[in-house]
Amino acid sequence: MEFVNPSDHAESLLAERFRADPRVEQAMQLLLAALSDAQGNITVPRTAQPQLVQHYQQLIDRLGKARGGAPYFPYLASGLGRGALVELADGSIKLDFICGIGVHGLGHSHPSLLKSSVRAALEDTIMQGNLQQHPPSIVVCERMLALANRFGAQLGHCLLSTSGAMANENGLKIAFHNRFPAHRIIALDNCFAGRTLATAQLTDRPQYRAGLPTTLAVDYLPNGDATYSHASQQRAVGELDKLLNRYPGQHAALWLELVSGEGGYYPGTTDFFGRLIDRAKRDGLLVVFDEIQTFSRLSQPFAFQHFGLNDVADIVSFGKITQLCGTLYRESLKPKGPVLSQTFTAASSSVAASAAVLDQLESAGCFGPNGRNMQRHQVFADGLEQLSRKHSGKIQGPYGLGMMIAFTPGDGSSEHATRMVHMMYAAGLMGFVAGHDPTRIRFLPPPGVTTDDNIRMACAILDDVLNRF
Ligand SMILES: Cc1ncc(COP(=O)(O)O)c(C=O)c1O
Repeated sequence: MEFVNPSDHAESLLAERFRADPRVEQAMQLLLAALSDAQGNITVPRTAQPQLVQHYQQLIDRLGKARGGAPYFPYLASGLGRGALVELADGSIKLDFICGIGVHGLGHSHPSLLKSSVRAALEDTIMQGNLQQHPPSIVVCERMLALANRFGAQLGHCLLSTSGAMANENGLKIAFHNRFPAHRIIALDNCFAGRTLATAQLTDRPQYRAGLPTTLAVDYLPNGDATYSHASQQRAVGELDKLLNRYPGQHAALWLELVSGEGGYYPGTTDFFGRLIDRAKRDGLLVVFDEIQTFSRLSQPFAFQHFGLNDVADIVSFGKITQLCGTLYRESLKPKGPVLSQTFTAASSSVAASAAVLDQLESAGCFGPNGRNMQRHQVFADGLEQLSRKHSGKIQGPYGLGMMIAFTPGDGSSEHATRMVHMMYAAGLMGFVAGHDPTRIRFLPPPGVTTDDNIRMACAILDDVLNRF
């Protein structure tokens, strides 16, 4: 979809005349042609160029010094890529199946992102904010609401923000504000919600809140077992029942990540979530879906749509692949006071890119039960299964759903996962670790552009790494 300027008199605007200036379109065509030429040689992973290695290492050292610690991977982009392939500043090319932990949904240097960035560069300001907005921000909010409500959800408002943690903070505020004086939250074991003081408290990782004050009272429920057996569902619902009776009226919300991301790629089931939600709603809890990582990766844009949980969505946060973040919530939950605001809602380029990404995901056919996401999952899962048969004992899996896919390396220890993920990186394939006991290696391939060929390439690299592991 092209940006629709909601002004009735757009044609009389000076800005419209500027945007419609033929030189702008000419410049755009030149840039697109130059991009296409530059991308021509990016076809397969390759190693660094020897003459760049020393300078690259100096850059990595400078990065570590400036940010106060070495980066997880010695990764510095050159500024050019093609689909799932990216050139680094040492001249190497990597197959990027982690994409900034799920951010680059169209891979690298996608022409539609160049177009949207150039268009955004024509705006009068880099940043958009609550005090001074531009029409494309309205369009993105309306699109996210329309997308979220297309199977019957009733989300009325969309508040943009610049990080997933902030979108979740806003979600927490909406929940507490509406359930005052309730001050507790219920979440699932192993959940991840971000790194602010509140979301780090919600995140089920004690080391992420070491030395930090307790800001939230969070109660955790056990996740289902591998098959989400009746017994494991009973256990979780029983636990929920106990908590609600132990702290009557004190819980504001049930917080759910429908496929635990950082937790290790454990997708739940409709039955499991449905039973928890039924019980929670009986006591008036609001249901929050954290879709920061899941958005656009399953058979529908939202995971709650994939699991058929449209009727029960009260608050939904989204981010990463959308290039900006946001919180959707029911109209009835609109706060009665100025509790929600922030200087930045998003960069102009993020707003433009967000619309471009949504367009491309739709036109690439990512969604539907037999859409691109689920099909690519099957191809990747088949490849990983073959590898696990060939390299028995060195790899288990696959796990995950849609374009969230993982395997367990070696004995499931974090040492094995760390060693393997770095061997993969050196061999040209980027993934990342997730979860603990076992620690897995996960992939977030870019849904809009990943090809079967990319997946075969990834499996071939993994095969080589496993031979040496
Ligand atoms: C489920 C989930 N929630 C929240 C966040 C936090 O997002 P951000 O890092 O943009 O603050 C993440 C990030 O990985 C996430 O996966």
